[in-house]
Amino acid sequence: MDVNSAINQRRSIRKFKDKPVASVDIEEVLAAAIKAPSGKNLQPWHFTIVSGQHKDDLVDLMVSAANRREQEGISTGSCLGSARVMRQAPVLILIYNTHGPPQNNRENHYLWSVNIQSIGAAIQNLLLAAEARNLGTLWICDVFFADKEISRWLGRDDELVAAVALGYPEEIPEPRPRRPLEKVAEWLK
Ligand SMILES: Cc1cc2nc3c(=O)[nH]c(=O)nc-3n(C[C@H](O)[C@H](O)[C@H](O)COP(=O)(O)O)c2cc1C
Repeated sequence: MDVNSAINQRRSIRKFKDKPVASVDIEEVLAAAIKAPSGKNLQPWHFTIVSGQHKDDLVDLMVSAANRREQEGISTGSCLGSARVMRQAPVLILIYNTHGPPQNNRENHYLWSVNIQSIGAAIQNLLLAAEARNLGTLWICDVFFADKEISRWLGRDDELVAAVALGYPEEIPEPRPRRPLEKVAEWLK
């Protein structure tokens, strides 16, 4: 599949088939992820691939954390919906910023932003490589509602950036609308 087809066909998938993803396919999408450019070629990413009972435990942890936040009066928005998708997807990839979390000064904010952009590029590569293999993905930041709990569970002290649910799609959603190009781009000729 050429890159334009992958870009145009990709959708966020929230229903997955009960079908495992071969390790070789997971390795290939990760190989695409790490081909992304990164500021100073720091490659500030780390991927933890979670499946089976580990994934169930992780989702349980996230649901408990979200319920606790709600009881404390903190809205967790779409967190439980995302947790449902994570439970159904056969594979979950957690993405960490090995150079995070951000320190509180201007120079470090700049470096942090560079690293987050690099990781965003890697995640998008991963999504497009999955699409090229007829795999569906959901980019999930709702893991933030349980970032401390998840990191403690994994024994990590760097920064959780996102998760990607991966599996064979059980749905073909309509494309979500985009603001028109003329509203978001300007030309200075
Ligand atoms: C940084 C980022 C975070 C996202 N977090 C979530 C999430 O936590 N839960 C969810 O269901 N979708 C999440 N999404 C998916 C978006 O809702 C989706 O990309 C958007 O609605 C456009 O739809 P499309 O991906 O099908 O084009 C996220 C997407 C991005 C890029």
